Amino acid sequence: MNTEKQPNQWHKMGFTRRSFLKASSLGYLALEAGGSLAWAKTGKSSNELVRVGVIGCRNKGYNVLREILRTGRALCVAMCDVDDEVLQRRAAELKKETGQSPKLYVDFRKMLENPEIDAVIVGSPDHWHCLHAVYAMEAGKDVYVEKPLANSIHECNLIAAAAQRYGRVVQVGQQQRSGDVWNGLMDYLKSGALGGLRRVNCWANFAYGAGAPKVPDTAVPEGVDFRLWLGPAPERTFNASRFHGNWRHFWDYGGGLMTDWGVHLLDMALWAKDITEEPTKVSGFGMNLSGLDRARETYDTQSVLYQMDDFLIQWQQNGGIERGPYEKSYGVEYVCDGGTIVADREDWTLYPEGKETDTEQAEAFKLRSGRSDMDLHANNFLDCVLSRKLPNCSVEIGRNVALYAHFGNVLARTGAGSLDWDATQQQFVGHAPANGLIVPDYHHGWKLPAV
Ligand SMILES: NC(=O)c1ccc[n+]([C@@H]2O[C@H](COP(=O)([O-])OP(=O)(O)OC[C@H]3O[C@@H](n4cnc5c(N)ncnc54)[C@H](O)[C@@H]3O)[C@@H](O)[C@H]2O)c1
Repeated sequence: MNTEKQPNQWHKMGFTRRSFLKASSLGYLALEAGGSLAWAKTGKSSNELVRVGVIGCRNKGYNVLREILRTGRALCVAMCDVDDEVLQRRAAELKKETGQSPKLYVDFRKMLENPEIDAVIVGSPDHWHCLHAVYAMEAGKDVYVEKPLANSIHECNLIAAAAQRYGRVVQVGQQQRSGDVWNGLMDYLKSGALGGLRRVNCWANFAYGAGAPKVPDTAVPEGVDFRLWLGPAPERTFNASRFHGNWRHFWDYGGGLMTDWGVHLLDMALWAKDITEEPTKVSGFGMNLSGLDRARETYDTQSVLYQMDDFLIQWQQNGGIERGPYEKSYGVEYVCDGGTIVADREDWTLYPEGKETDTEQAEAFKLRSGRSDMDLHANNFLDCVLSRKLPNCSVEIGRNVALYAHFGNVLARTGAGSLDWDATQQQFVGHAPANGLIVPDYHHGWKLPAV
């Protein structure tokens, strides 16, 4: 396998929307004849079906694929995973659930050469998002990329630049942007009914944040292309506690709770005031204080404070435990003059500051479509693939909040205490160790994509 070969010719392969629709139409009819398909009952014209491929099928990638297929507006034509057991298992599940038999790939570069694919779901670990998303766009595909947008500040910038250069639709997997709870809440906060918003506290306390139990290195499991799993990350012997799912706790592949949940919840703070600017003043610390028998580099105990123009945002994470403020393991608390709101993905509650706060008015802002965040987010992606409009969680929204989250890890990893960010220079002011974490080193012949 030549990992140095960059697929920069893909965007020149003459793939057009017209040829997609034609292929879509033919494929649809063939599949329809072959089995009892959920979407066959929707009455959708085949021209409205979007053909998707997925990279990384074990957990969230497959979950997103299912949501997209459940809309009745898409077909799966390709699945890719570097673990053959995962790939075969998910392909069999898909066949059973939908009757579909997509083409299967180990190497995403081969998958992206497939002109049938209109949109790609990126469900790989974070250290792969940049290469998978940028090359998918270069090949003319729209992209649903999981959060955090990428595993470093620079890679986030590259994905955003690629979306602009190639004119592709990008939905970032922060599904809360499409959900009822948060949309109703944002409308209420922005109505001004509670007066000024002074502070937003976000917290994520999860047992999994302590990492997996430590285990010895072993041989690479049969059927796993470990070189292609590592990709741009440094060479390592195989260790299960750094592999499927557990990669989150190691800097080479992920950013711990800070980026895993940080992008979901900090985004709910930024959205409350429609903040599109990058953070400028941040302070924070991170430490590993418990569960030292677990396998992780990321922090179990971490706090970050963002100084905004007219309010404060605060982040707290506690890995290894599940209890948190208001009996919630995660949540967002909005402290306003007229009362405090506490929200999670299920609901939000107003704690009025005084009797004059109208709690019934707040209730009236609640949206209750009965549809899940993922259902709404998947449908919004497909709407935008067809209309070419900006999705609910655009690449810029995903990029900006990922920077907020990455800054927390830069602070903790360097022990800087506080940092100022120069958005024009894309540099931390006067802090070489922090600046050293902006651009990742790529290994195994992979290069940061030229966008
Ligand atoms: N939006 C959400 O609520 C949500 C929830 C969970 C995970 N996620 C995100 O989804 C992504 C995946 O997380 P996960 O929990 O599914 O991880 P996972 O480790 O369970 O699955 C990742 C899959 O990607 C495969 N893979 C790795 N490198 C690959 C490559 N080069 N080509 C093809 N396949 C490759 C792995 O073999 C594995 O099957 C992460 O970015 C994560 O943050 C988002």
